[in-house]
Amino acid sequence: MRILSGIQPSNKIHIGNYFGAIKQFIDLQDQGEALYFIADLHALTTVRDGARLDQLSLDVALDFLACGLDPSRCALFRQSDIPEIPELFWYLTVLTPMGLLEKAVSYKDKVARGFSAEAGLFTYPALMAADILLYGSDVVPVGKDQVQHLEITRDLAIKFNLAFVPKYDPSQPDGDRKGRGRGILKLPEARVLESTAVVPGTDGQKMSKSYGNVIEMFAEDSVVKKQIMTMKTDSAAVEDAKDPAATPILPLLRLFASPDEIAEHERTFREGGLGYGHYKARILELFHAHFGEARARRRELEKNRDHVEQVLRDGAARARSLAAPIMEDVRRAVGTRGLRPLGKG
Ligand code: ADP
Ligand code: TRP
Repeated sequence: MRILSGIQPSNKIHIGNYFGAIKQFIDLQDQGEALYFIADLHALTTVRDGARLDQLSLDVALDFLACGLDPSRCALFRQSDIPEIPELFWYLTVLTPMGLLEKAVSYKDKVARGFSAEAGLFTYPALMAADILLYGSDVVPVGKDQVQHLEITRDLAIKFNLAFVPKYDPSQPDGDRKGRGRGILKLPEARVLESTAVVPGTDGQKMSKSYGNVIEMFAEDSVVKKQIMTMKTDSAAVEDAKDPAATPILPLLRLFASPDEIAEHERTFREGGLGYGHYKARILELFHAHFGEARARRRELEKNRDHVEQVLRDGAARARSLAAPIMEDVRRAVGTRGLRPLGKG
């Protein structure tokens, strides 16, 4: 089984990214051939400062390693180190119906929030499809917001196979003895962990880098403390019963605490007697208990950036070796040859 996922280095990693995505990456790295990448080409849709993009990409690599992704068990790489990506992206783009992209929520959302409507943002789902289809990925662990992109990816794989594989039948994607052709691009499945599908931010909306409501995983102690202690609440007094909908406290406690402890917090919420500060301080304590080790590991890794660069180079070589046979089939099917070293072939 091939497992693939990526994260955009568009800002610092937060606990929503961890519980929604990275935690699954770690759990899955022993269940097959795992590939995890830093989606820097995607981040270019919003980051327009080369030095900053480079720094953020390296930061995400450090975050991945500190969280427990192990380069001996999975390939870690930068998207931009894979030249086959923009090539496959184009083969898919020529087949992508405008209507499919117009329906993509990510584009509609960003435009609604004031981002300018550039073609890169619009065609982003086709780039994401290339990321996934290039390696014949079976399983793609992501948060709920990415599920639509996976559906688009499957659609594009089917369109490609229908266009270029003689007698391809989507109901028999592996072909059969009756002469149906085997698909060149494999249809992947999204994997979403329902329990943590959406981690709320400190204002109660979905936690997101772009909403300024994050609890950062690797920020300094004082920053994390501020992010947690200024979380949204209402003005209920200490003795009052607390309205669970007035604050993200309970869902955040559920991420970290044991079932017994959660039940206790739910009870004191109902009965009153404890101020919001009490629960926030407990979240802070649990945050450090949960992430203390990863935070210390990251400080160590930061001292050896050359090692991280080497990990990324090795990861890219591994990923490209898995992509090579698939790209050979793709190029033969579409009638191109792909770049070869000068003088060869
Ligand atoms: P952001 O919304 O902060 O920009 P990204 O879109 O870069 O985050 O998401 C990276 C990964 O983390 C994706 O798989 C996404 O589904 C997951 N993710 C992001 N925010 C959350 C959240 N609040 N809860 C659960 N998963 C999340
Ligand atoms: N679009 C994803 C996000 O914003 C990042 C991403 C890019 C990705 N390519 C991917 C995730 C391929 C999974 C597979 O979070």
